[in-house]
Amino acid sequence: MGVLDSAQDMIGKGASVVKGAVSGVAVENQAFMRGFIRMCNDGWLQGWHERNGGNLTYRMTEAEVEAARPFFYDNPSSWVAMGVQADNLRGAYFVTTGAGRYMRNVQLDPAFNVGIVQINNAGDAWRLVWGLKDGGKPTSEFASHVMNHSVRVAATGGACRVLYHAHPESVIALTKVMPLDARAITRVLWKAMTECVMLFPAGVGVTETMVPGGIDLARATSELMKTYEAVIWANHGLFCSGPDFDSAFGLMHAIQKAASIHGQALMMNGGSGEFANTISDDDLRAIARAYNLTVNEAFLD
Ligand code: 13P
Ligand code: ZN
Repeated sequence: MGVLDSAQDMIGKGASVVKGAVSGVAVENQAFMRGFIRMCNDGWLQGWHERNGGNLTYRMTEAEVEAARPFFYDNPSSWVAMGVQADNLRGAYFVTTGAGRYMRNVQLDPAFNVGIVQINNAGDAWRLVWGLKDGGKPTSEFASHVMNHSVRVAATGGACRVLYHAHPESVIALTKVMPLDARAITRVLWKAMTECVMLFPAGVGVTETMVPGGIDLARATSELMKTYEAVIWANHGLFCSGPDFDSAFGLMHAIQKAASIHGQALMMNGGSGEFANTISDDDLRAIARAYNLTVNEAFLD
């Protein structure tokens, strides 16, 4: 029996028999969880989450933890080492999708497909305090999420709360035909539609093709997330951050749409990227100036 199996056993034995007796709004109906569930379902409806593809984590506020606490397991799981050190996330609580569980099913049964985990005071292990029933554990990309939450919390002065990974098909297709270079890929995304430079003025990072759920992918992504709010994983998908569900979902949506527009325009143009009408570098500068945004000048000609 593995560590996780025995942890789940403990939960089974220790959980209150009648959690319904606890007063307060059930976790599933609290606003943060409703937002989390809605985002999972919205991603499913977009077609970004085949099978168990994609995952989502949310760093809870102290008030949200207190509202949910009456529903936590009486006996949380044992601590599980993450192989990651996150000093600025000591004691934090995250909502996370489950490894191998389907975004499609989150709305039907949140307590099976989603869990709340606590990070220990050393910042290097998690334990399950709610949900992920029947032996579930956090997403296989949890180390990546924690490492990247740590980086984005530092980069945003604590504002970042959401990390979202999906498999949007046009983004994946783009990585098959373009050099895996942040500047080259950012430029085609910025030039796909005028809003893009406003939505991600720093650009997007890009990794090589790497093993899903691996620590190397987590490390490579967290290096890039010091600079970028979003990182494309070659031949895999996209990892987006944001202060709230709307921002992270919106960033995913915009990057996917830009990649799709670029792909369509290439096809309409016989495969050539020399379009009759394009967004020039001066256009990009003008948009950034008009909206008082600091655009990544290194990505402009
Ligand atoms: P999980 O089911 O473990 O979240 O994995 C899905 C995925 O997309 C891995 O990159
Ligand atoms: Zn994935």
